[in-house]
Amino acid sequence: METKEFAVNVEHLRKSFDGKEEVLKGIDLHIEKGKITFIIGFSGTGKSVLLKHLLGVHKATSGDVEVLGHKLSTLNHDQLIEVRKKFGVLFQAAALFDDHSVLENVMFPLNEHRKDLSKAEREQIASSRLKQVGLEEKHYNKLPSEISGGMQKRVGLARAIALNPEIILYDEPTTGLDPIITEMVDNLIIETHKSREGMTSIIVSHDLTAAFRLADYIAMLNAGTVLLYGTPEEFLASDNELVRKFVDKGIHRK
Ligand SMILES: Nc1ncnc2c1ncn2[C@@H]1O[C@H](COP(=O)(O)OP(=O)(O)OP(=O)(O)O)[C@@H](O)[C@H]1O
Ligand SMILES: [Mg+2]
Repeated sequence: METKEFAVNVEHLRKSFDGKEEVLKGIDLHIEKGKITFIIGFSGTGKSVLLKHLLGVHKATSGDVEVLGHKLSTLNHDQLIEVRKKFGVLFQAAALFDDHSVLENVMFPLNEHRKDLSKAEREQIASSRLKQVGLEEKHYNKLPSEISGGMQKRVGLARAIALNPEIILYDEPTTGLDPIITEMVDNLIIETHKSREGMTSIIVSHDLTAAFRLADYIAMLNAGTVLLYGTPEEFLASDNELVRKFVDKGIHRK
């Protein structure tokens, strides 16, 4: 049998900010490499805080976070930056630079981290990423304000994959988007996932329809702990009351 490889291992992770009540109360989570994992749960349960621990933006109060074999708490600043380069990140607001063109936005991480390449080479990579997410060349020199919201999402994704990441983190990539753009983004997530061998995609989302359609695994957080972690089938079969409540509501809403 094939042995599973894990991109992320979170062990007994606890976090409180400034000695206040704990937000994360002992998270154990092992995210399989090469798979799509959704993280779901009610608002305020610590999903975004958990994602930020994977990037080393937040430091654990106790417990461990290991990413691609690196225990984050043991890394110095430069080593942490190296690990962060292995991540692509797409948050809800695409957070593009307003005064940079589409192409310059995608070049940004390359300019930061691939100084070994010539400008022409960086441009070439950026335009190939934009092509990959289906943005036509005639938009490359426009400012973000001159393209539609759906196109901005594509640019954000192109920028997230600029450095050819091993792990992509999405925090609510489709919240607030219309159903057409939501479906487009869902499809882009799948295509991006498939575009790289061994890519690990981790998606925080309130969109249960997408979770059940796209996920290999789903983790449901509740009040700073993992309530249930399993396949979509295991979620549908769960008789845990909170899981049922969340799943029924989410599906009912559609
Ligand atoms: N930097 C911070 N300092 C102090 N408290 C924080 C900080 N970041 C988050 N929190 C608190 O941690 C809790 C969990 O927040 P988090 O953003 O992870 O929730 P979430 O599950 O992502 O919710 P949502 O679905 O609404 O995005 C909240 O009570 C929030 O106020
Ligand atoms: Mg959040």
